[in-house]
Amino acid sequence: MSKPKILVTGGVGFIGSHTVVELYNAGYEPVIIDNLNNSEAFILDRITQITGQKPVFFKGDVCERADLQALLEQHSDIAGVIHFAAYKAVGESVQHPLKYYHNNVSGLVVLLQELQAKGINNLVFSSSCTVYGQPEINPVTENSPVQKAESPYGNTKQICEEILTDTVKVSDTKAIALRYFNPIGAHDSALIGELPLGVPNNLVPFITQTAIGKREKLTIFGSDYNTVDGTCVRDYLHVVDLAIAHVRAIERLLNNESTDKLEIFNLGTGKGSSVKEVVDTFVAETGVNFNFVYGPRRDGDVEQVYADTTKANNVLGWKTQRDLKNMLVTAWEWEKSLSKK
Ligand code: UFG
Repeated sequence: MSKPKILVTGGVGFIGSHTVVELYNAGYEPVIIDNLNNSEAFILDRITQITGQKPVFFKGDVCERADLQALLEQHSDIAGVIHFAAYKAVGESVQHPLKYYHNNVSGLVVLLQELQAKGINNLVFSSSCTVYGQPEINPVTENSPVQKAESPYGNTKQICEEILTDTVKVSDTKAIALRYFNPIGAHDSALIGELPLGVPNNLVPFITQTAIGKREKLTIFGSDYNTVDGTCVRDYLHVVDLAIAHVRAIERLLNNESTDKLEIFNLGTGKGSSVKEVVDTFVAETGVNFNFVYGPRRDGDVEQVYADTTKANNVLGWKTQRDLKNMLVTAWEWEKSLSKK
């Protein structure tokens, strides 16, 4: 008998699609809702190629109550929800704050209301290490102070965590918020991966697009930080490891293993890598050289942040398996496969 049905909002996106694959691998039956605003329908066929299963897909929006109602009416046996559907571009959120507050905050509120109406109590929420801002001490634990958000995007993640804190107190809802560090890489099959819209904001898609010739050169933002080589340090983790953490989290909720009604976990490797180290590792592992220059610092960037993963390791029972080399090689294989598409 297959395991329960899990609703995956934003299940066609980067992390969502990898999570759908891992849900199948673990025996669950994913049901996807995605408005395809920032994802492409061909990814659904790719999921089928990888898993041999055709996911149930609803083209719809979590902000639209009617979409959720129709879905939940048809799938009254959904046992839990993994909620990815959200906008995620920091710079765009500064330009269009209401778009971000509407989609990310209202989306969660409407989703929670409709889930409560159907008695669906288990929710895994996509949060971000952005809530820590520039931490005074690295690595950061889940108890490190949450700092005032640098962008409307970051603020939506903080507000959503607060909405969950308030909601679990007075309802049967149980939630796990996962604070991701920097997810990169792609599935080993090179059939799914990150699909940035337009010019990528994030480091690794920019590197792979430059290496393949779509971009002229990478600009490394800042070389005078107080870090190992002057460039910013982040905790990069493989998207497949991250996807597996979501399966573990929903399992924890379904099995009533949680000790609090809202639990928070940092998801990273625990190891910081500098931008220059990422560039060097990419070149060493792929043998592909590309142009890069040092430019000024980017507004809003924190100097250094990496995770203390003790709680995720010991309580969630999850640990990353893949290293930076594997993250960059799989991201490169994905970029090459996209260029052939
Ligand atoms: N970087 C460059 N050049 C580029 C792009 C990025 O040097 O062209 C550098 C950035 O300055 C930063 C590092 O690469 O030092 C990583 O930048 P990303 O944009 O890939 O990732 P961020 O750490 O800035 O942002 C990520 C997520 C956000 C999340 C944030 C939390 O994209 O969603 O982590 O800190 F909010």
